[in-house]
Amino acid sequence: MDKLFIKGRSKLKGKVRTSGSKNSVLPIMAACLLTKERSVIKNVPDLSDVRTMVRLLQRLGAKVEFCDRTLIIEPGNYKGDTATYKFVSVMRASVCVLGPLLAKQKTANVSLPGGCVIGPRPVDLHIKGLKALGADIDISHGYLIAKAKQLQGANMYLGGAYGSSVLATGNIMMAATLAKGKTTIENAACEPEVVDLAEMLIKMGAKIKGHKTHTIEIEGVKSLGGASHTTIPDRIEAGTFMIAAAMSSGDVIIEGARADHLGALIDKLKSTGAHINSNTDGIKVKGGRTIKPVDVVTLPFPGFPTDLQAQITAMMCLAKGISIVTEKIYPERFMHISELNRMGADIILEGESAIIKGQRRLMGAPVMASDLRASAALVLAGLVGEGTTEISRIYHLDRGYENIEQKLASLGAKIWREKEK
Ligand code: UD1
Repeated sequence: MDKLFIKGRSKLKGKVRTSGSKNSVLPIMAACLLTKERSVIKNVPDLSDVRTMVRLLQRLGAKVEFCDRTLIIEPGNYKGDTATYKFVSVMRASVCVLGPLLAKQKTANVSLPGGCVIGPRPVDLHIKGLKALGADIDISHGYLIAKAKQLQGANMYLGGAYGSSVLATGNIMMAATLAKGKTTIENAACEPEVVDLAEMLIKMGAKIKGHKTHTIEIEGVKSLGGASHTTIPDRIEAGTFMIAAAMSSGDVIIEGARADHLGALIDKLKSTGAHINSNTDGIKVKGGRTIKPVDVVTLPFPGFPTDLQAQITAMMCLAKGISIVTEKIYPERFMHISELNRMGADIILEGESAIIKGQRRLMGAPVMASDLRASAALVLAGLVGEGTTEISRIYHLDRGYENIEQKLASLGAKIWREKEK
């Protein structure tokens, strides 16, 4: 297993390019299963999650090539209908093959994801939506077993206790493209990744309207064809670099980052005193002299993304005052707090809120990555801390950040990877 070492106190300066979006490309890869024809996806990040999805599609019988950030997927007459526990346990996004398999193969067996370190990960909304389309769904031996001779369009409300669901919206939207008649999804997620998936499906021949809003309408078609698509830039990776620049008093241009995907973060960073300029080429972030505290609440898009909660919490450890970060999507997503406290932070947890006493001197320490975004928070703390931080279990980071150490090193960070002895 690899470890990441970071020697702190570096000001980040320069330009870094945003990779393609992980959360966009995974459902888009699943969407390719809706046709037997060949599709080409460009701007694909080389991440372990993408490679896991490649293996899952191959296991289902599709031909997949991945080279130079381009995926070529040709399902042909693939026969598979099962995503085993082996796949779903390492990557919960494997669940997004459910809708395409059910629509195309008429049957789908997908292992239930269960919980994880960020809390329970229910799939009730996926089930509710597919049942509304006429699927029979059973749960047996830890698997969700779905069958439907012909899906039928339907009207449905797809909200749960924590609001809309990104992957449930994706799954239902994909299944509905081949259903008979019209489907309306109310309280649909409208994250940029859902919009990107809809745009791929439209290129494949689907009839979809309203995909930038909370009401998506899909008119079913008889069949879909292959398409060529370029994924959007990864707003979470870009946002992580923006926070890194702001908290290290740096001056960084994040090339390819889209301000229209990052409005809530831009607004918060400006309130901390950072200077932000954006244009069609990217976003420039210059850290302020001091960091003002801000309160943050995570919410579905266009609210502040839960996937940047751990990173903004790390930044608030340096702010001049107290800030409160409230998690409304995954109320248990606070594994990073105890590790940040070991690095000198002063954070207490009150229900779904982290109360952060700022103006702390963060210090390098051996820490352990617990999940993808928590790991990013530890990297950020390591960049500004005194001394050396040693992060173990960085396979979590490799799931979602392409070449993170090369990218940070190109901005002047002292960061390197070593094999664990
Ligand atoms: C996606 C992202 C993940 C991000 C999350 C929220 C991918 C691959 N992953 O995950 O990085 O953190 O959106 O923006 O795109 N819920 C239910 N029932 C369901 C499904 C979800 O109650 O059937 C709840 C979840 O527990 C959570 C909330 O709804 O509290 C939002 O989760 P959801 O949007 O579904 O997350 P994912 O799509 O799995």
